[in-house]
Amino acid sequence: MSGIEIDRRLPEDFFAAALRDDVLKGLTADPKWLPPKWFYDARGSDLFEEITRLPEYYPTRAEREILTTRAPEIAALTRAETLAELGSGSSTKTTLLLDALQAAGTLRRYDPIDVSEAALVASGEQLRRRYPELTIHAVVTDFEERLAIPDSDGPRIVAFLGGTIGNLLPEERSVFLSRVRGGLRPGEWLLLGTDLVKDPATLVAAYDDAAGVTAEFNKNVLRVVDRELAADFDPDDFDHVALWDADAEWIEMRLRARRDLDVRLKELDLTVSFEAGEELRTEISAKFRHEGVQAELATAGFALREWWTDSEGRFGLSLAEAV
Ligand code: SAH
Ligand code: TRP
Repeated sequence: MSGIEIDRRLPEDFFAAALRDDVLKGLTADPKWLPPKWFYDARGSDLFEEITRLPEYYPTRAEREILTTRAPEIAALTRAETLAELGSGSSTKTTLLLDALQAAGTLRRYDPIDVSEAALVASGEQLRRRYPELTIHAVVTDFEERLAIPDSDGPRIVAFLGGTIGNLLPEERSVFLSRVRGGLRPGEWLLLGTDLVKDPATLVAAYDDAAGVTAEFNKNVLRVVDRELAADFDPDDFDHVALWDADAEWIEMRLRARRDLDVRLKELDLTVSFEAGEELRTEISAKFRHEGVQAELATAGFALREWWTDSEGRFGLSLAEAV
C-alpha cells in the first residue's frame, strides 16, 4: 500500500531562515533561549515517542484514558466529517478518535498538521494501512507562523492534544487560539488537551525522568543547531534542568553550561559565550486549571461544551464549539 500525500505549505527556505532568525535572537538575548519547535527533527520525534512511554510521563496515558472513555461522545456530539490535528506527531492517540468517528459513520477525512515531516511520513504509512478508505491530507507547516486548517464541506473538529498548547507563552497562546477560531465556522469544534496543575514533584519528574530520555530530548535542540548552522555545541557540556515556576504555573526546561564555553556558529558568523552555570531556556510547559482554560477559550470565541479529566484528575480534555 502506498503512503500519503504530503502538502508542504512552507517555502523551501522557511526552516533554514526561521531557525537562523530564532537562534540569532535567542542566543544573543539575556537570558538566552531557544524556541521549542526545533526539538522535533527525526531523532527528536523518536525521543518524544520514548518520553510518552516513560513511567514518569503521565500526560500521554492520562489523555489516552480520557479519549478511550469519551471518543464515542465526541463523535456523537460533533458528527465530524473531517478531523484536523495540530502537532499530530505519531497520531497514536488519534486512532481512538478516528475509530469512534468511523463507527458513527461520519468520518471522511483526516488532516494531520505538523512541523515535522519525518513524523508525518512515519505516521502516514501506518494510518494508510489501518484506514484504507480514509482521505489523509498531511500538512507540513508551523502552526504558529502559518496556521493552515484545510477547508472541507462537512463539519470539522480540530484536535490539539498532548498538552502542546502549554508550550506556548500566554500571549502566544491567545493569538494562536484566536487564529484557530478564525479558521473555523460557527458550530465547528476544537478538542484541546491540557495538562493540569498538580503537586510539583509529580510535574518535575515528568520532565526529568530517571532514565535521562528527557535530558537527551532537551539536548537534541543543540544537535539540530550544530547540524543546520554548522555550530560546535557539545551536548555533554550542558546539564538538563527542569523546574516548576509556581507563580507562572509552568515547568521550565533549561540547559545549564557545565563550564565556561565559547560556541562557534559558523553559518551565523557568531560566537556565543556561556559562563559556567549559565542557563539557556529551551521550553515551557504550562499547566492549567478548568476555569483558566474555559476563560481562554471564551476570549478566543469558543464555548466550552464538555470538560473531562482522567480518573486521577491529572489531565483535562476540553470539547469547545466555535460560536
Ligand atoms: N500530539 C502528539 C505529539 C505531541 S509532541 C501527542 O499528543 O503525543 C508536539 C508535536 O507538535 C510534535 O510532533 C511537534 O513536531 C509538533 N510541533 C511543535 N511545534 C510546532 C509548530 N510550531 N508547528 C507545527 N507543529 C509543531
Ligand atoms: N508537549 C509536551 C509537554 O509539554 C512536550 C514535552 C514533553 C517536552 N517533554 C518535554 C518538551 C521535554 C521539551 C522537553 O509535555
